[in-house]
Amino acid sequence: MTTTELDNRGLAGVVLGALVGLSLAVAGFIAGVGASGLAGETTSFWYLSRAAGLVAYALLWGSVVWGLLLSSKIGQAALRPPLTLDAHQFLSNVAIGFAAFHGLVLMGDRYLSFPLQAVLVPFAGSYKPVLVAAGQIGLWLSLLLSISFVLRRRIGQRRWRQLHMLGFVAYWAALLHSVLIGSDSHAPWLQAFYLATAGGVLFLTFYRILAFRQRATA
Ligand code: HEM
Repeated sequence: MTTTELDNRGLAGVVLGALVGLSLAVAGFIAGVGASGLAGETTSFWYLSRAAGLVAYALLWGSVVWGLLLSSKIGQAALRPPLTLDAHQFLSNVAIGFAAFHGLVLMGDRYLSFPLQAVLVPFAGSYKPVLVAAGQIGLWLSLLLSISFVLRRRIGQRRWRQLHMLGFVAYWAALLHSVLIGSDSHAPWLQAFYLATAGGVLFLTFYRILAFRQRATA
């Protein structure tokens, strides 16, 4: 690996740390203000949560697509493997930051009741528990995969790859959650966005399976 690549990786790590740290700090602060009742009656928390949810979905989608491009070896000549893997991790980590913000900030909303336990534990809340759980499962699985990057050497490449399949479960669970619970899901632009992004993931998944089979029989 060249020095420039090492520098870029270091820089990506710093930007990543800053972004995730900032998201979580802002989430903690806003959720704290809301949970303590200081903010009073306002819909700001709900709007903030919805916006962060959409950003989290887009980032999670980006991470899945990036991972599929990596494993299908599409655009390999133009993209350099160590950096592309970093970008995949980066997108996934920032998605986790936004998803955590999206859930935690709901603690401030006075209309929906979301104490900390209901945000963190699947099926623990009273508001649409199954649909909320799909989002929580998406978040927890994404976090598990992010941690697995660090433990990659310890658990071995084969097991790590098998574990990585959970990334698909995380994505489809998050999509199901977003489409079925979202207040904006009826809007044509958002439906087009969900259709286009899910279609892209389906296409690349089939491409990946076919490419893998072709390589195995060659
Ligand atoms: C990977 C994880 C997640 C993603 C990508 C995600 C994404 C989304 C998106 C896109 C929406 C729709 C926003 C709208 O159309 O208004 C949404 C709604 C919602 N999410 Fe999540 N979410 C995730 C995790 C969570 C978690 C952990 C919770 C925990 C409480 C949660 C609770 C909710 C609730 C209550 C709504 C409904 C808000 C409304 O009334 O529109 N989500 N989510």
